[in-house]
Amino acid sequence: MVIFGAGGDLTKRLVVPALYNLTKSALLPQPFALIGVDHDEIDANAWRKDLHDFLEDQAKHGGDEFEAGAIDEQSWNRLAATMSYVPGDFTKAETFERLKSHLAERDGKEQLHGCALFYLAVPDRFFGPIVEALDRAGLTAESTGWRRVVIEKPFGHDLESAKALNARVLKHLREDQVFRIDHFLGKETVQNIMALRFANGLFEPIWNRDRIDHVQITVAETIGIELRGKFYEATGALRDMVPNHLFQLVAMTAMEPPVSFDADAVRAKKAEVFRAVHPLVAGDAVRGQYGASTIGTGTVRAYRDEPNVASGSFVETYVAIRLCIDNWRWAGVPFYLRTGKRLPKRWTEIAIRFKDAPYMLFRDTPVDALHDNWLVLQIQPDEGIRLRFSAKRPGPEMALESVAMDFRYADWFKQAPAVGYETLLYDCIQGDATLFQRADQVEASWAVVDPLLKAWNVPPADEFPNYAAGSSGPSAADALISRDGRAWRAIG
Ligand code: BG6
Repeated sequence: MVIFGAGGDLTKRLVVPALYNLTKSALLPQPFALIGVDHDEIDANAWRKDLHDFLEDQAKHGGDEFEAGAIDEQSWNRLAATMSYVPGDFTKAETFERLKSHLAERDGKEQLHGCALFYLAVPDRFFGPIVEALDRAGLTAESTGWRRVVIEKPFGHDLESAKALNARVLKHLREDQVFRIDHFLGKETVQNIMALRFANGLFEPIWNRDRIDHVQITVAETIGIELRGKFYEATGALRDMVPNHLFQLVAMTAMEPPVSFDADAVRAKKAEVFRAVHPLVAGDAVRGQYGASTIGTGTVRAYRDEPNVASGSFVETYVAIRLCIDNWRWAGVPFYLRTGKRLPKRWTEIAIRFKDAPYMLFRDTPVDALHDNWLVLQIQPDEGIRLRFSAKRPGPEMALESVAMDFRYADWFKQAPAVGYETLLYDCIQGDATLFQRADQVEASWAVVDPLLKAWNVPPADEFPNYAAGSSGPSAADALISRDGRAWRAIG
């Protein structure tokens, strides 16, 4: 495995910790070699040390995804022993020539069978040039073993650029050599949506417009944009989260059952969802930007005061969308999506609201309102599934109360801590592309948001900032859903 961007944040925070977890669980294929490529003139020892120190620090201070305590040095040493480093500029042919002879040398010594996975953990402007350079150096040719390329997000920044990038990449690689990653698909709970729907006979018969009133998908974050001002100014919440992460959740929830779990069968069904979605126009969506606020004892600065953000920026940090899927299953069932930075809680859920009972059996009793039936797939934190329904409160009177049946992963499974990339890395090494995006799916997703991106090129009519950090988002988002006689669920 060759990581371009070996010195970057993604490698340090996600890719190498995931490789470490795979080593610990003895899931890395053997033999295995890890080669880092980056412009820093360092050696393999310095690279190893930097990664080790980060892991150790995370283990001590316990990030969400890391096991608290010390790292398992034995596992780390096993991984560290596979690591080597090739310094070089991604835009220079000589880097690829050097990489080629380094690969050949390790392949000869360690019997790697000519297989190589090239992981592009680099800014998107390098995706095209690196793929071209790999091809030019003969590194994508599958003479003895497979050759694959993992491409990170963002895959394009609108429909046109995504199409151009696909065309550029597919000039040099076959579609089955390209693994376009969306880390949401690495989350256990996201993968579990398919198990819930298609491994049970219980849900599918009611998973349609006959029984479902609407669906709400929330991806709320408490963090601001941290030190990514430059990136975020060019991106905004819509591009950063919607055609990728939120649409993965939509696809899993809305797709038709595939004929098999074969990668192409599953991906074809997902792509179909977006072909049935109306392209979004300005009236289907609300944008917001957070303003300063006091949260607890600290003050949080406004988006416009973050480093590398323009003082008059109208880039959105919040999006709410009303999406319609025009097919037999979903016609008339709106999907309301929202995501934002600086919301009150880190909270990702898919909430399915079932229709009310057809008539009020309890009308001659003190019961004057029925409680809503919800099936909530909690993606993070406290991963689980909850079903809410009405039950009779004990006592002589007929009184109903909303109660819940709960399944929590943490209670049921002894879950190993994971950064979410383990499954994805494992799958691309195995050549299983089910959890990766195919070119047509990426383009179909961009096609849905493209008109909205264009409409949002001009400043909003609403004054920005329009929501306070720590609040649930702009009031216009409430209006978007209340227009249909519905309301957002509380975040958290
Ligand atoms: C990334 C976005 O792709 O996903 C970030 O660029 C966002 O802005 C992150 O914070 C959310 O991922 P997770 O796994 O923390 O929910």
